[in-house]
Amino acid sequence: MTKQSKVLVVGATGNVGRHVVSMLHAQGAPVRALSRRPESAQLPASVEVVPGDLTRADTLDAALDGIDTVFLVWRRLPVEAAPPVVDAISKYARRLVFLSSMAVRDDLEQQVDPIGQLHASIERSIEASGLEWSFLRPAEFATNTLEWAPQIRAGDVVRGVYGASAMTLIHERDVAAVAVRALCGAEHIGAKHPLTGSEVLTQAEAVSAIGGVIGRPLRWEESSPEEERERLLGWLSPSFAEFILELRAKAVHRTPPVTSTVEEVTGAPARTFREWVVDHAGDFR
Ligand SMILES: NC(=O)c1ccc[n+]([C@@H]2O[C@H](COP(=O)([O-])OP(=O)(O)OC[C@H]3O[C@@H](n4cnc5c(N)ncnc54)[C@H](OP(=O)(O)O)[C@@H]3O)[C@@H](O)[C@H]2O)c1
Repeated sequence: MTKQSKVLVVGATGNVGRHVVSMLHAQGAPVRALSRRPESAQLPASVEVVPGDLTRADTLDAALDGIDTVFLVWRRLPVEAAPPVVDAISKYARRLVFLSSMAVRDDLEQQVDPIGQLHASIERSIEASGLEWSFLRPAEFATNTLEWAPQIRAGDVVRGVYGASAMTLIHERDVAAVAVRALCGAEHIGAKHPLTGSEVLTQAEAVSAIGGVIGRPLRWEESSPEEERERLLGWLSPSFAEFILELRAKAVHRTPPVTSTVEEVTGAPARTFREWVVDHAGDFR
């Protein structure tokens, strides 16, 4: 990124994008934030926030005008909407950093799971676009554990399935810190960064860790896959609910890898889950 180049942050009001905006802004880099509702974006007053909707690529021209580099987040949107967005970006920008997923498998011709399929398909559009790209491929976000917050606020028990399943939860600030380096450094062009937190924790251990920070004896209580399936079907399709259950079941017997990429890229080790809980303790109280 040259000194004058300007970054458009898509997903600027989200877990990761919000930090990307703040970090770029704090280092004096010109930054513009995209939101479907700029009036409720709650970003620093001096940050330019512009409207745009990723499902309607024709709404992005004004946001992209004068932009050199884009940070792209694709959150629960149809995969078919991505190629027109990548196309629009390539008409204005030179560089794109995409928040992809560790679910993408480079060793497979066809991705095996729906999360991998979605992100691999967007990665392929980006690779074919002529843009200079970097892909961030994080493991599970620590923010996913906020799903337990209503139960924790109501009592000392978190009910769920496969409490022994292992995770390498990553702090959204670490993902954002890597994103900022990738947005600003030519050495990240063509990089696919696998990102994890600093440790492996089971779901049950993560619940205890939250209890340790908020000073309560929290414990995991195992529910049945049938009960969990019923709960997931409240907002997921049957095939996706099945996929999530399988993912958790497999993670009981498989220890996920911990990568050192956060430290290699940012110079600071990935934060621990405990550090994340300290930053979010208010959500669990
Ligand atoms: N959660 C995980 O464990 C995990 C693991 C690996 C990778 N990821 C990746 O990270 C992504 C989520 O990132 P996050 O947690 O930072 O997201 P998030 O907190 O859920 O925020 C989503 C952002 O997307 C924007 N957005 C949604 N629909 C939009 C649309 N139609 N047009 C324009 N903007 C739109 C929202 O902006 P407005 O509402 O302001 O418009 C918001 O800023 C996932 O989708 C996945 O690709 C997640």
